[in-house]
Amino acid sequence: MSGEIEHNLPVMEDDPYSAENLADPYPLFKRMRDAGHGVWLEKYGVPAFTRFDMVREILVDHATFLSGAGVGPRNYHHQPPWRKPGILDSDPPMHTPLRTAMADVVSPRNMRTLREGFQTFATELVDRILDEREFDAITEFAEQFPLRVFGDAVGIPRAGRKENLLAHGAMNFSQFGPEDARYEQYMAAGAHTVDWVTNACARENLTSDGLGAKIWAHADAGAIEPEEAAVLVRALLSAGLDTTALSIGNTAGCLASRPQQWARLRENPRLVRFAIDEALRFESPFQSFFRTTSRAVDFHGVRLAEDSKLVVFPGASNRDERRWGSDADQYDVERQAGGHLAFGMGIHQCVGQPIARLESEVLFGELVKRTASIEPSGPPVPFLHNTLRGWVSLPLRVVPA
Ligand code: HEM
Repeated sequence: MSGEIEHNLPVMEDDPYSAENLADPYPLFKRMRDAGHGVWLEKYGVPAFTRFDMVREILVDHATFLSGAGVGPRNYHHQPPWRKPGILDSDPPMHTPLRTAMADVVSPRNMRTLREGFQTFATELVDRILDEREFDAITEFAEQFPLRVFGDAVGIPRAGRKENLLAHGAMNFSQFGPEDARYEQYMAAGAHTVDWVTNACARENLTSDGLGAKIWAHADAGAIEPEEAAVLVRALLSAGLDTTALSIGNTAGCLASRPQQWARLRENPRLVRFAIDEALRFESPFQSFFRTTSRAVDFHGVRLAEDSKLVVFPGASNRDERRWGSDADQYDVERQAGGHLAFGMGIHQCVGQPIARLESEVLFGELVKRTASIEPSGPPVPFLHNTLRGWVSLPLRVVPA
């Protein structure tokens, strides 16, 4: 990403990927938004976009801003990909049949059949924490839920999920940020998971009625190649677990530190849906990723060369006062947060949204119904990752209704 590249952007020396800025990115995000339509990150030699309108426009224009050259800083046109590209790092026409198959599998119709199983485990998990009263909302709640219900929905074996899936996702998402010491750390911590995940995705190890088997049915019908089916099942596992666990943890964190917001949910449980979307806006689990230009482009006066990388920060766009108003830095369960960019936008917009939403709605629906109050019971520990945002530990105390 370095070298003498010509540009006409305001230069910033700050590093959005430093430990300090990852722990609290919002002051820097505001300075980046206020500096102009985009900024030049000197340390990485790359243009960065943070304003809502700019980021949305980039994500929607997939013909100019490619994913197929990788959604991290590595340019696949010149450097080999870390592993075989799949749905996330492809462009049409390769992307289209993969997306069609995946969207069919994670359809609202298939989601309806999952609700009952999600509800059963939500009841069990909420029983457990109300019994314990003090618990870690990450390790004993947010991670537990998708590990069980999402793993079961895909149809992979239960043994080994906890040891492998979270580290696998953290490794995978590391590629969407700079290849620095933190990247090396997550790559090393995830190395042991590759065999387990490959094995779990193998057709013979999947249950016959899960989402994984449904993807393979598309290969049987000739809609996609068998190798593509294997890559798609793996994409479910690498994209669908950490993100959902972080989103559940972030929602719990937002609510536990704001008793008035919790009281509003208790009064009107229909707001649960809004509370979840607002938490996705307010603390976006997937903070930043890259695109590559397919041509030289004048983007709102910003000159971008052909085949060059740029980075977008949806986590910053979701706090843009220009879009969300002067209270963008407030968490408000009554806000209409729809249209946020936490799931991306355009043809790559998160295909797993229906399942992520179902998980959160069922779990928080149960929690709100049965919990009079929820509050912090110790200092939280932030999860420092170049792409993802959330907590490693979040001690909470609950009082049953
Ligand atoms: C709250 C949880 C989640 C968040 C915040 C999230 C976020 C995102 C974002 C921002 C993108 C777009 C990336 C880009 O444009 O380059 C994306 C794509 C994707 N997500 Fe999610 N995701 C979540 C849950 C899930 C789940 C549960 C699954 C699996 C069922 C999943 C599977 C995927 C896949 C396969 C793509 C690629 C889609 C494509 O390229 O067409 N995600 N996600």
